[in-house]
Amino acid sequence: METYSPPVIPLCEPNLNGREKQYMAEAVDSNWLSGGSFLRRFEHQLADYTGAKHVIGISNGTSALQVALTLAGVERGDLVLVPDLTFVATANAVKYLGATPIMVDIDPHTWLMNLDLVQDFLENHTYQNSGGCFHRKNHRRIKAVIPVHLLGNICEMDRLNGIAEQFALAVVEDAACSLGAFQNSRHSGTSGLLGTMSFNSNKIITTAGGGAILTHNDTLAKRARHLITQAKSHLTEYIHDELGYNFRLVNPLAAMGCAQMEQLPDFLQRKREVAAHYHEAFAEYEVAFQQLTPGTDSNYWHSAMLVDKSRSLIAGLAAENIETRPLWTPIHELPVFREDVYLTHENVSSQVSGRGIMLPCSTSITDEQLQRVSQAVGSLLNSIKN
Ligand SMILES: Cc1ncc(COP(=O)(O)O)c(C=O)c1O
Repeated sequence: METYSPPVIPLCEPNLNGREKQYMAEAVDSNWLSGGSFLRRFEHQLADYTGAKHVIGISNGTSALQVALTLAGVERGDLVLVPDLTFVATANAVKYLGATPIMVDIDPHTWLMNLDLVQDFLENHTYQNSGGCFHRKNHRRIKAVIPVHLLGNICEMDRLNGIAEQFALAVVEDAACSLGAFQNSRHSGTSGLLGTMSFNSNKIITTAGGGAILTHNDTLAKRARHLITQAKSHLTEYIHDELGYNFRLVNPLAAMGCAQMEQLPDFLQRKREVAAHYHEAFAEYEVAFQQLTPGTDSNYWHSAMLVDKSRSLIAGLAAENIETRPLWTPIHELPVFREDVYLTHENVSSQVSGRGIMLPCSTSITDEQLQRVSQAVGSLLNSIKN
């Protein structure tokens, strides 16, 4: 006799139920593949929505960070402050430029870069001169700071911008996962010098692979477009006036992005409902959710919580065909970054990472599936505890 196996509930899958196919077919039919009207339209949609003066479509969120750091003036040998708990791309982008990340531990409640540690480090371990801000120990320049708006929660930008101004640091916001999140009416990625976004397939909107750079600065926007087009400085001749990249977002993928942007309000609504469901379902359990910073209206991109024995919970849910994941491994624990400086008192990032579990939160998840997840989590939490 055939046994019934319930469908897998995926962690976070793309939702392509709008005009994606129609717009992508139009892009292909137009024969404009590298650039074209959908790319311009997607950039305008993002600019309108976020309030950024300029939005530049780019091949992915990692290349967006690499270019944004270049635009911010980060050079070989520089130091860049990054949160210790983030997806590895944030720190990788710093390394690509020959610079070195300084990992900063996170706040135990918001899970974002601990700004007290940033301030303490800059006040007590650096000096400034006309060339910028330098580490007292090794005299390397600290050029930039990358706040990461993890899971849709936004770093306290007024405070961070104040610190950055005092110590002459450029602020590059990694808003890869926070499209749709606002703080005091400002969209994530629009408070610093530059912001970056990702549209990979697990993000709130997707272009399969893609990203964007956001800025209010005309000169930086122009240079961003130049750098991502191999720094080509002549319309027809192959003249390239600096080291450039082939990082443009292509027209058919931007077409997918246009269709996704039309659905963003619905996606945000569903993400909120999913987060509210988990908050309510686990209110009586010993779990902790991410606390939002003051003034933040999260996009609730990814529902996650902290729980003891998270790995047992993940394994138990996998056995029930429910896909979950741990939070990211802290950057300071990864081999590539082990020799680099980690600012911490209590290694909060390892504790949060060790207890973290990301829960199913696709925008297409049904109410029945949500019920199934919370019931399975609830009974596993009870059995794991005993
Ligand atoms: C915080 C963070 N930064 C950067 C990236 C890199 O984006 P992409 O995968 O589009 O290169 C991601 C996404 O995956 C991310 O979550």
